[in-house]
Amino acid sequence: MPLHFSEQFGFSDQDFADVQSKREQAAATVREMNSKGELGFTKLPYANIDQIISLANELRSEFADVVLIGIGGSDLGSRAVHRALNSPYFNLNEQRRNGSPRLFFTGDTTDPVALSEVIEEVDWNHACVILVSKSGNTVEQMSTFVLLRQRLLDAVGDNQTKRAIITITDGEKGTLHDVTIQEGYRTLAVPGDVGGRFSVLTSAGLLPLAVAGIDIQGLLKGAADMSIDDDRPLAYATLQYLAYTKREQRIHVFMPYTYSLREVGFWFRQLWAESLGKAYAKDGQEVHSSPTPIASVGPTDQHSQVQLYREGLNDKTYTFVVVKEVRVDYTLPEAFSNFEGVAYLKGHSMNEILHAEQRSTDQSLKEVGRPTCLIELDRMDAYHVGQLLFFLELATAYAGEMVGINTYDQPGVERGKELMYQILGR
Ligand code: PA5
Repeated sequence: MPLHFSEQFGFSDQDFADVQSKREQAAATVREMNSKGELGFTKLPYANIDQIISLANELRSEFADVVLIGIGGSDLGSRAVHRALNSPYFNLNEQRRNGSPRLFFTGDTTDPVALSEVIEEVDWNHACVILVSKSGNTVEQMSTFVLLRQRLLDAVGDNQTKRAIITITDGEKGTLHDVTIQEGYRTLAVPGDVGGRFSVLTSAGLLPLAVAGIDIQGLLKGAADMSIDDDRPLAYATLQYLAYTKREQRIHVFMPYTYSLREVGFWFRQLWAESLGKAYAKDGQEVHSSPTPIASVGPTDQHSQVQLYREGLNDKTYTFVVVKEVRVDYTLPEAFSNFEGVAYLKGHSMNEILHAEQRSTDQSLKEVGRPTCLIELDRMDAYHVGQLLFFLELATAYAGEMVGINTYDQPGVERGKELMYQILGR
């Protein structure tokens, strides 16, 4: 199996028996919704992949720079997969890019300084903008779009600007949908029944990723092979639910031991928090579901957060992610053999050290009764990233059913948007 899951939460058979009916109910509900076609994100593949690949190829040949405007679910997924599979120095290395344009992410803030860093870097004479907003109304994307469209107009004029703007939005409604029709932009639809944070495997994530040269078919295949009948995402959700309800361990530390999955931590943080952090009514009272995700990364955080993880309150669970086979590894040569503090490194590889770091952190947490689990990927490629993303999406769906909330809405986010519209006089 390309993705392996193991756990050391230490729950007893009785603990599992106590939530057995909840677990079965959650499994039945998610699987029934899937079989009835009511669960948008499980309908793989979501879109006409040929259309996405063909548009991506057009953009790769027409433009030197691609600026991606998105926020939340319209940004974090493509950012995470791009970082998982491409180098952080992608934009600096034309040869490594292998025909892909440079890719700039923006729209996730209206901070003018952050925007200037993109605006000043992009070659506007040879750039296109991919604007992703499912609702087609969100202020961060729309304000950034207005600004960047003007850059294009100033650089290349009206006709070429129309060619250089690509929108990904709801296929039927929303301001961006209407603007797209008026201006005749090239466009792809986000399926109406897939929420932003579950949309990485729709056109919202797939178009930018295909532009960046990522094997999106491999990504989808990996996701599709993580079957809805696979019990591992359900087991993962059950453990988190047990930790939350029986031990008040409400903080969920997601800690990959590879830099390339660091952004997947931020993607997962949104998925888990926005799906599961809900106020709901129970026995006539308002109660709060509050499983709190933390995006961490090893070994970096061993020298920062792990002090807290080991000796702070026992209110957290720990998910490690490791990659077994790496694209490149370095074996250390002999050096300073007269110093024991360095000599012992001889012959060890950097990946071996990385894995030893993960194992030692795991052990030090287990020594003091902290619950840990491990997701192992055989290697880092589009297929395995697809497996990981879909594993976590399914786990989130099961967790939401166990808690008994609506996993797919985000009233707290929407309320913030409404208030901001009032402040800005919309
Ligand atoms: O998951 C969600 O629904 C949100 O995080 C949205 O993705 C985010 O608010 C951006 O919304 P939109 O794509 O509609 O502009």
